[in-house]
Amino acid sequence: MIRALKGMKDTLYPENKKFEYFIKNTTDIVKKYGFEFIQTPILEETALFKRSVGESSDIVGKEMYQFIDKGKNDVCLRPEGTAGIVRSFVEAKMDRQGGIQRYFYYGPMFRYERPQKGRFRQFHQFGCESFGESNPLEDANIILMLKEILDFFSINYTLELNSLGCPTCLPPFREKLVSFLDETEGFCDDCLRRKESNPIRVFDCKNPHCQELLKPSPRLNTSLCAECQSDFDTLLKALDANKVNYTLNPNLVRGLDYYSKTAFEFVSTDLGAQNAVAGGGRYDKLVEFLDGRPTPAIGFAIGIERLLDMIEVPEVSRGGYYFGALCQEAKEALFAAANKQRQNDKVIQNYEVKSLKAHLKAADKANARYCAVIGEDELAKKILWVKDLVEKNEEMRELGA
Ligand code: HAM
Repeated sequence: MIRALKGMKDTLYPENKKFEYFIKNTTDIVKKYGFEFIQTPILEETALFKRSVGESSDIVGKEMYQFIDKGKNDVCLRPEGTAGIVRSFVEAKMDRQGGIQRYFYYGPMFRYERPQKGRFRQFHQFGCESFGESNPLEDANIILMLKEILDFFSINYTLELNSLGCPTCLPPFREKLVSFLDETEGFCDDCLRRKESNPIRVFDCKNPHCQELLKPSPRLNTSLCAECQSDFDTLLKALDANKVNYTLNPNLVRGLDYYSKTAFEFVSTDLGAQNAVAGGGRYDKLVEFLDGRPTPAIGFAIGIERLLDMIEVPEVSRGGYYFGALCQEAKEALFAAANKQRQNDKVIQNYEVKSLKAHLKAADKANARYCAVIGEDELAKKILWVKDLVEKNEEMRELGA
């Protein structure tokens, strides 16, 4: 038997009802904020992710599903959505339209990670990207929207926030940090590698010894330039005014290179080790970096599997019709009647001739509100026998009426 690949899973019915429930309600919320649906390909040129997410990141450095296609192009399955959205934004010249443009997307992402609870090799994200607004009130808007989504699904979470600085304050900070790392002995091999490729990543190290060594290190949040500090203050003020609780986490550096200024994650204690349910931040330089006109931008992505793990779909009340035949001869009349009913209602047909009892049982299992049958009597009288499974009453309806 051929099985699904490691780290990849089928989501079958009825489990997939959760996915539909999530997409429908999340879409309704983001549309209230002016986000519009767009889609980009799952397969992209590898260079796109190397340039945006960054070669020093684990996502690009270790986890890409990368291969050479039949046309000898170096391609990969997208490990995340933002890079493709920005590529399409530039390719479609949306960067020249000006104004604020807000888009959402959802679909599968691929990372060759070690599978564990909440971590898959194929997983799904729901992402939102807002282009053209540098005002930190848009950061607050995005965070409030994400909070509204998580609150809708009754998720328990903590919001962690940091500012990653900008091209003015980050390079001098990086220098200070590298000097500190050079002077301090005992960091793990990963940290020493990070020191060379992207030093601020050391803050992300999970090794407790490295975290201990980092305690006296220079910190980003005390090294911001005046603009980054003022933008961060404006964001915090807006969150305070809207009663959003948050924790400042100077170790939050995110796993992708394109961020500047605001970075955030929503983490949940209900999730175990892989506790980030959503993450995002500002990426004001990425459009330019992918050859577009300078365009500030901010966005986030929700890990759909992680969120679905924490929600229940409310019971759906009985609805629609179940149509069944009691004799062979009634099948055609039943088929016609079912199609007519479907103009107004959901109708499930059963083609097998069964007893009334069996049809009633099947209608109950299908969660139908009405069970409609035709037998020899009904056929002769040109009527349909209908039982309301909620009110428990029965009626005869004229066929063709
Ligand atoms: P990310 O933090 O890499 O950000 O991923 C976002 C979310 O995807 C995570 O918080 C997590 O819930 C989920 N996720 C990540 N990896 C896995 C996995 N292997 N299995 C299951 N779920 C996973 C991004 O991808 C950015 N593109 C977000 C963004 C959008 N930033 C700005 N705009």
